[in-house]
Amino acid sequence: MARILGIETSCDETAAAVVVDGRRIEANIVASQEDVHRETGGVVPETASRLHLRTLVPVLQQTLTAAGRDWGEIDAIAVTHGPGLAGSLLVGLNTAKAMAFARGLPLVAVNHLEGHVYANWLVEGDEPRFPLVSLIVSGGHTDLVLMEGHGHYRRLGRTRDDAAGEAFDKAARMLRLGYPGGPAIQRAAENADPSRYPLPRPWLRGSDDFSFSGLKTAVLRTVERAGSSLVAADLAASFQEAMVDVLVTKTVDAAREHGAQAIALAGGVAANLPLRARMQAFSPVPVLIPPVRLCTDNAAMIAAAGHFRYQAGERSALDLDAIPSLPIA
Ligand code: KG4
Ligand code: ZN
Repeated sequence: MARILGIETSCDETAAAVVVDGRRIEANIVASQEDVHRETGGVVPETASRLHLRTLVPVLQQTLTAAGRDWGEIDAIAVTHGPGLAGSLLVGLNTAKAMAFARGLPLVAVNHLEGHVYANWLVEGDEPRFPLVSLIVSGGHTDLVLMEGHGHYRRLGRTRDDAAGEAFDKAARMLRLGYPGGPAIQRAAENADPSRYPLPRPWLRGSDDFSFSGLKTAVLRTVERAGSSLVAADLAASFQEAMVDVLVTKTVDAAREHGAQAIALAGGVAANLPLRARMQAFSPVPVLIPPVRLCTDNAAMIAAAGHFRYQAGERSALDLDAIPSLPIA
């Protein structure tokens, strides 16, 4: 049995969690900065760092209390060391190191995107089986990855320009639907007509890569052409449908091609309900989808990923630096 304390501060959520054996959540606290960043229409990095600095220790205390545990019952600390905003990462990483040093606990560094994938281990039921194809769709990344075992990833495709979440956020801004854009578009699209404004599907045939900048431009042109007669909800619905269409088709094709046992959705955009429904409808293999609160940034997923690295004997040195991007072969 191993009880891991997870810490996540890569962007704008200050989060801590206690997870047992990489699968069972004892506490999972997320302090969102969303209300502050809504005022600026996006995350201002220095603001995010300072909010982490103020919030992280109270969140840690709250997490241990909620779990009913004290430091003596923690076996290791797992912390996000990238990718993410440098200033934000440094706050979490330095706090984790200080606690590891003070308590003599092992430190395990976890890649943020790997964390998103391991949110699928926090779901009740059978453990996910390999090989699996994971679609990692967040505000900063869009990666299609073949996972052949714990910690073994092969990148099949990635975005060549905007990340999926970034495309949702930019489209929402053009449609004046607010921040964060993904949930705003999903809400607006609920009972709207996606056929009023047809949009292109960027397939990039023959490649597992994605490209969303053309779709974004098509939304902008449509907004300009429609002027004051624009029905924003209908354009939101059309945009969402195009995004979901491309993400689902390419993921399902990759799962078939690589003989995957399952498809695992990961990242903030995996919270999108039409994406979840369509993936399930079209996939030939089981689709693993974390509950919405585990799709967006949290520390339980970091603790889960950290657990399997800890069990494999991995330990991070206390001179570890934050890393800005994803190390995938
Ligand atoms: O993984 P995440 O919480 O943070 C990053 O690591 O980037 O992802 C945030 C992204 C944002 O772009 C947000 O608009 C998007 O996830 N998102 C959604 C939904 N909920 C969050 N996109 C589409 N539909 C949603 N329901
Ligand atoms: Zn994330």
